[in-house]
Amino acid sequence: MKGVILAGGLGTRLMPLTRVTNKHLLPVYDRPMIYYPLGTLVEAGFREILLVTGGNNAGDFLRLLGNGAEFGLQHLNYTYQEGEGGIAQALGLAEHFADGEPICVMLGDNILQRSIAPAVARYRLRGRGATILLKDVPDPGRFGVPVLNGERVVAIEEKPAQPKSRYAVVGVYLYDARVFDIIRGLKPSARGELEITDVNNQYLAWGELAHEFLEGWWTDAGTVGSLYRAARLVAQERTGEK
Ligand code: G1P
Repeated sequence: MKGVILAGGLGTRLMPLTRVTNKHLLPVYDRPMIYYPLGTLVEAGFREILLVTGGNNAGDFLRLLGNGAEFGLQHLNYTYQEGEGGIAQALGLAEHFADGEPICVMLGDNILQRSIAPAVARYRLRGRGATILLKDVPDPGRFGVPVLNGERVVAIEEKPAQPKSRYAVVGVYLYDARVFDIIRGLKPSARGELEITDVNNQYLAWGELAHEFLEGWWTDAGTVGSLYRAARLVAQERTGEK
C-alpha cells in the first residue's frame, strides 16, 4: 500500500498569505504545514509516498523535503498538478505511481492528533473498497458531510448549506485501484473541480464505502481561521499548555 499527499491548489482562501507561496509551505506553529500529513503517513508505516504539488513555488517542496531524509525516508516522489482542477483531479495524477496497489490519500492541509495506523490496518484486512474517516465538528458545512441513517452512511454532501449531520469527512481516504476508473468518469462540480466527495459517493453506490469515527483532534488549515486553530492545537500538543 502506498501513500499520496495532495498539496496543490492556489490557496485562494488564504490570500494574501498564498500570493507568493504555496499554502502547504506556510507555518503551522513550528513546522511547515506539509510536515504534518507527511509525518502522519510515515508514522503509519508508509515508505513509498507521492507528493502532488501545483500552483506557486512547487520547486520549494523539493528544497524543503528533498528525499524525505528528515522523516527517515530514502526516497520521495513528486508530481505537478497544472491549474485548479480539484482534489480528485490531483489524485488522478497518482495512477502511475499507485501501479494497481491500494492507496492512502491525505490532503496536505489536514492535521491529525493521533495515528491513522489502526484505520490503515483495518482497511488492509478488508483489502478492497474505500474507507473514510468522520469527525464531529462545530461547522460541518465547510466540509464533506455524511448523511447518516443510524450507523449507515447513505450519502455524502459537499459543503451543504444545511448539513444533515454534525460530522465532517476528514481528508484521509483509503482506496483500492478502482479509484482511478472513478476519477476518469467524474464531471466538474459547480465550483469547476473534480470532487473527492463524488469519488466517495461512487464507492457508496457500489456498497463498498466503510467509515470510522476518528479519535483525537483533527483540523484542516486552509482558511485563516482554521490555520490559526491548527497552530494553537499543535502548540498545546507540544507544550502541554491549554
Ligand atoms: C476538502 C473536501 C471535503 C473535506 C475537506 C477536509 O474540502 O472537498 O470533502 O471534508 O477537504 O479537509 P476543501 O479543502 O476543498 O474545502
